[in-house]
Amino acid sequence: MHRRLPPSVVVITGGSRGIGLEAARRFAADGHAVGLIARDRGDVEDAAASIGERAVAAAADVADAAALGKAIDGIAGELGPPDVLVNNAGIGAWGAVAETGIDVFRRTIDVNYLGAVHATAAVLPGMLERHRGRIVNVGSIAGRIGAPFEAAYSASKFALAGYTESLAVELHGTGVSVALVNPGPVDTEFFARRGRAYGNRRPRPVDPGAVARLIVRAAHGGAAERYLPRWLRFAHAAKVVVPIASSVGTRRMFAGERRELRARISTNGTPKEHGKADE
Ligand SMILES: NC(=O)c1ccc[n+]([C@@H]2O[C@H](COP(=O)([O-])OP(=O)(O)OC[C@H]3O[C@@H](n4cnc5c(N)ncnc54)[C@H](OP(=O)(O)O)[C@@H]3O)[C@@H](O)[C@H]2O)c1
Repeated sequence: MHRRLPPSVVVITGGSRGIGLEAARRFAADGHAVGLIARDRGDVEDAAASIGERAVAAAADVADAAALGKAIDGIAGELGPPDVLVNNAGIGAWGAVAETGIDVFRRTIDVNYLGAVHATAAVLPGMLERHRGRIVNVGSIAGRIGAPFEAAYSASKFALAGYTESLAVELHGTGVSVALVNPGPVDTEFFARRGRAYGNRRPRPVDPGAVARLIVRAAHGGAAERYLPRWLRFAHAAKVVVPIASSVGTRRMFAGERRELRARISTNGTPKEHGKADE
């Protein structure tokens, strides 16, 4: 249970599908006005229309600070200044480091990390003036434990985790706060769009609705960091306390992929870049 959030304006990046859309539905069902942002105008407008009158849509790429600022201003013009920002827009990327081009590293940082930095910069001054606001950053367990064959993605989410931790301390006592939500795998289009299906037996993908519930809880305040499933918090702690055990476990989980990579390298010689980031 959580105490009720007063009627609020909630801006959600990546609100056109998956976790972001589920979160938008839940905020709207609790009586909040929601502003959704995503790149595909048709998708984000359909998503807002499916929620109802208290939802508005704006199209922007979160990597484009000017376009994103305009989108957030447009939403604020229609609904009022944002009380809650959910930095959820994100893309995956799959590929061994030796086979991944710099463009993939740049794009994942631009979207998954700098996208949140840009959105925060757009809302933070107003929140500080009003002494009220909550920012919820959607990280990942891959932002706490390095994920093999997802180095570009992992690094972007580690950046987001570090940014969130720093900001949380800076904001203490201002009336504005920030939280990090770290899901494990979630059953959305994320994997198909990155070009590689989720391949591990554990953790099992969870329903996006469960992550949305956690985001709504995080918007109410309380814990600075949350995990789903919850036991992932202990997996993170285990990595810090017994790194060798964590590393051996992760090597075992990716034994097949590592074997394939070694085979490709011995057949082809120099690795070929083939990693891709969802565009
Ligand atoms: N699914 C998982 O297993 C998983 C696990 C841990 C964390 N997460 C994180 O959860 C968040 C949501 O993922 P999801 O699973 O819901 O993925 P999804 O179903 O692919 O949805 C991604 C959303 O982000 C938007 N988006 C992507 N790139 C964008 C950009 N450059 N600018 C603006 N919007 C953009 C998409 O719309 P457009 O394509 O139209 O822009 C869409 O609305 C991401 O940050 C992801 O890293 C996901």
